[in-house]
Amino acid sequence: MLASLPQELETRFADLFGRPAEIVVRAPGRVNLIGEHTDYNDGFVFPCAIERSIWMAASPRSDGQVRAYSLNFGQSSTFSLNTIEKTQNPSEAWSNYLRAIAAILQKEGVALSGLDVVTYGTVPIGAGLSSSASMLVAAGLMYTSAVGEEIDLKRLALLSQRAEREFVGVNVGIMDQFISALGKRDHALFIDTRTLDYEAVPLPASGVQIVIADTNKKRGLVDSEYNNRRSECEQAVKILKGFLPSITALRDVSIAEFEQYAHALPEVVCKRARHVISENTRVLESITALKSGDIALFGELMNASHESLKDDYAVSCSELDALVTASRSVEGVFGSRMTGAGFGGCTVSLVADSAVNAFQEQVPALYQQATGLETTIYTTKAEQGAERIR
Ligand code: GLA
Repeated sequence: MLASLPQELETRFADLFGRPAEIVVRAPGRVNLIGEHTDYNDGFVFPCAIERSIWMAASPRSDGQVRAYSLNFGQSSTFSLNTIEKTQNPSEAWSNYLRAIAAILQKEGVALSGLDVVTYGTVPIGAGLSSSASMLVAAGLMYTSAVGEEIDLKRLALLSQRAEREFVGVNVGIMDQFISALGKRDHALFIDTRTLDYEAVPLPASGVQIVIADTNKKRGLVDSEYNNRRSECEQAVKILKGFLPSITALRDVSIAEFEQYAHALPEVVCKRARHVISENTRVLESITALKSGDIALFGELMNASHESLKDDYAVSCSELDALVTASRSVEGVFGSRMTGAGFGGCTVSLVADSAVNAFQEQVPALYQQATGLETTIYTTKAEQGAERIR
């Protein structure tokens, strides 16, 4: 673990490549407060960036090669910008993100320069806190900085999303890349994923904290199930369109309309649609609650979101449910829910300042009793999105 970033990263860069780093960038992971599985339905999300980032230090090379070293994995990987290919070597798999976004930028007509690169991340990998999105966003910022291009951050998010879709093969929405690129310190972003308009809403400066807890359960099913949910939502739109010809996504369906036509949907599709439609409403209500300082209501909406994700959307798992139950049992917890795609990964809880210690003491023991697993707890403030530091 590097103790002081970015100085130590720059020192490592100089040790490895025998010259100083000209560019240093950072892009954060994220936690979604509410609005889950709504982004690929043109809906609303409310994430914030977290105080854990992927960092990259780099200097240009004139031979069109990218020579990268990952401090997390202690591995190097080299590729040419002329023929970018995915590596099949498991120990270099992390470099596929550097390859993927470089390939997309080139397809978009950005002339890239070769680079020496050192990467280091404090976003836990595979924990549902968007380590891959932050890797892509950081790399995109690094490549464009190296050729003196100031990339628009929304464009950076969209290109990173494309890289994730083409590289990982999961048809992800825009939330993770967007918040990693555009997050605002001490705010969460209320994002309309259809228009990409967004509003930075201040989080309470005191009184309450965001606490993330990791189930430490490896997320197995997530990719295939994610794509399944997506097509179930598309099926719902197709059927509802018979009654509501102007709709193009579940975003366009009100709760009243849904109730009127729900009978026409197959049972499972009906549940999926009910989650998405009710979740969009919960996001809107939670923003109003937050703006009026009603943290208790915000917490209740988080709780309702979890129940809906568990019962209707079926993306929770016994470990997430156990962690949520343990968290809610602590006095001073306003609300707790799974965050991200589901099937493992993390929960997010809103916890009164005075209850954070109790949370840290009680939740691990309760979770262990229920599952035999250990949880990892992270408290975080909302962090700024991607930035070039040097
Ligand atoms: C993953 C995806 C996001 C979003 C969430 C679920 O994190 O990358 O686009 O769909 O799942 O809300």
